[in-house]
Amino acid sequence: MEISLKNQVALITGSSSGIGAGIAQSMAEAGATVVINYPSPGSEAKATDILKGITDKGGNGIISQCDVSKENEVLRMFQDVVSQLGTVDILVNNAGIQKDSKFTEMTLDQWNAVINVNLTGQFLCAREAIKEFLRRGIDPSRSVACGKIIHISSVHEIIPWAGHANYASSKGAIRMLMQTLAQEHGADKIRVNSICPGAIQTPINTNAWDSEKSLEALLQLIPYNRIGQPADIGNLAVFLASDMADYITGASIFIDGGMTTFESFSTGG
Ligand code: BGC
Repeated sequence: MEISLKNQVALITGSSSGIGAGIAQSMAEAGATVVINYPSPGSEAKATDILKGITDKGGNGIISQCDVSKENEVLRMFQDVVSQLGTVDILVNNAGIQKDSKFTEMTLDQWNAVINVNLTGQFLCAREAIKEFLRRGIDPSRSVACGKIIHISSVHEIIPWAGHANYASSKGAIRMLMQTLAQEHGADKIRVNSICPGAIQTPINTNAWDSEKSLEALLQLIPYNRIGQPADIGNLAVFLASDMADYITGASIFIDGGMTTFESFSTGG
């Protein structure tokens, strides 16, 4: 069976940069029509650039502004996408932020900002996507499943992270959201999974790779000894969204060069 997303619409939140952009590129190469979502008018130019890169290579897509933490904006985005492209087949719940702070200094605003985007945003988009999947029903010319949701979680779904309590909490919670949706909508033939990336070279973690010293420290945590690239995540997202992965639901898949093997134990413990 060929890995193909032909005839399918994939909405990727936060896809004007980083991992989201990589997933959009990979999904477009696999034949999906992609929706490049960006959070605010200020990032429209970046979204347009990503889309241009895709259409230059023969892919199709549109851009759509929406702050995923705002219910009215999420409703509007889904209405727009369905009216322009007919439906949504694949949701990649990718938009995410970090607001790092020592725990005792973390403000409520820092806590709320991260939970609102990383967790509430994934809830709002998943809800609208599932409503749309159920409205459309299964269409075998698109996929054997009624719809697919991929949550972008993190290795910090299971690795505690000092100085990042808000972020790690949001990612831990995504696991329960994902598994509950997989359980609640399995009989509807909706597949729900998480991708849990390790260190991927993107703007969110610039300080972990932009100097030789920090990159060296980072590589101490990665048995495979390289930083990940957005295309690594894109490849997995294409597979998970495709019918090749039709029996995979309710799973968190770690893609981290071995980070979750806890490399520091190779010489200790
Ligand atoms: C974070 C990155 C970090 C990586 C590994 C990701 O979820 O967003 O900042 O480099 O986890 O710790």
